[in-house]
Amino acid sequence: MYSLLKPILFQFDPERVHYLVTRNLKRFNKFPGGSALSRSVWAVNNNRLERHVFGLTFKNPVGLAAGFDKNGDTIAEMANLGFGFIEVGTVTPLPQPGNDKPRMFRLPADGAIINRMGFNNLGVDVLAERIAAYRKTTEAVKNPVIIGGNIGKNKNTPNEDAVSDYVKCFDRLFDVVDYFVVNVSSPNTPGLRALQEKEPLMHILNTLQQRNRKNEISRPILLKIAPDLTEEQLNDIVEIVQQTGIAGVIATNTTISREGLASPQAAVNEMGGLSGKPLTRRSTEVIKYLSQKSNKSFPIIGVGGIHSAEDAQEKLQAGASLVQLYTGFIYEGPGLIGRINKKLLNV
Ligand code: FNR
Repeated sequence: MYSLLKPILFQFDPERVHYLVTRNLKRFNKFPGGSALSRSVWAVNNNRLERHVFGLTFKNPVGLAAGFDKNGDTIAEMANLGFGFIEVGTVTPLPQPGNDKPRMFRLPADGAIINRMGFNNLGVDVLAERIAAYRKTTEAVKNPVIIGGNIGKNKNTPNEDAVSDYVKCFDRLFDVVDYFVVNVSSPNTPGLRALQEKEPLMHILNTLQQRNRKNEISRPILLKIAPDLTEEQLNDIVEIVQQTGIAGVIATNTTISREGLASPQAAVNEMGGLSGKPLTRRSTEVIKYLSQKSNKSFPIIGVGGIHSAEDAQEKLQAGASLVQLYTGFIYEGPGLIGRINKKLLNV
């Protein structure tokens, strides 16, 4: 079905297509029987797919990566397509428009996307209210799904004050999300990735962990890292996770590398983060390195260039406990979620 639709969708601007498709998916799910039909066509339900990771039970290990549903608009619709968890955000304390359009580019010859969205989002208050409203729906009761909150800082907040932005998002979302992701790895907010250095990162994570421990219940906090880190930086990441006691790592975000691309130079030269097939191998390498270096002492969510069931399996074999999709979901369609889950049932 998606193979018929894709050539039409790929004729138009990717960001416009994103809104068009999600709007229509919402409409479809509102029709009587629409949600149930979506689940019966797409979702694979089997207890053997269940995973228990950082204290949470995931009904299957295939999640929607951050950036697709920045404002918590389509949680129910994505759950009905069969995702086992949805990561909303990246959200910032205040709403912000992001970079000028166009800011998202397909590179079909490479099975890739370049984006420089720049954390366009409606702000943490809107997101918190939307998730809270979703939690009260019958959809959420019928088809519960784990929700992660991916948090960032506003563009205008200097790095010295970044911690206060992460704290604001953490506090506001605490009651409505199941886990948190600290995003310091987007290439599209100037200076953000400098926060991946040991000192600022320890400060952010320790501050969040202190708040976490003050609450009766605590929420797992994960760190999302770039694929462009050196071995030395990855060693630091292992130490940081162990010293701060956070729940795990998401590897990886988009890359700033443009190595080995087949697309026309004009497309390759677009500024931003590259995702999709060119990232598959590097993100798997990062997962493998972290898993071995840490003696599997913390869980890893593997993301980056998963376009087939085999790609997902490689990430899991490299040491990931769960996987996430973004670009593969755009290129292969919702059928990819079920194909991965079916493959996992046959091994
Ligand atoms: C992203 N990604 C992303 N990640 C994140 O932590 N916060 C974000 O806001 C976004 N936004 C975003 C927008 C767009 C258009 C894309 C393509 C990607 C990164 C995403 O979650 C994922 O880590 C990478 O894209 C690698 O996975 P895929 O796309 O190769 O499956």
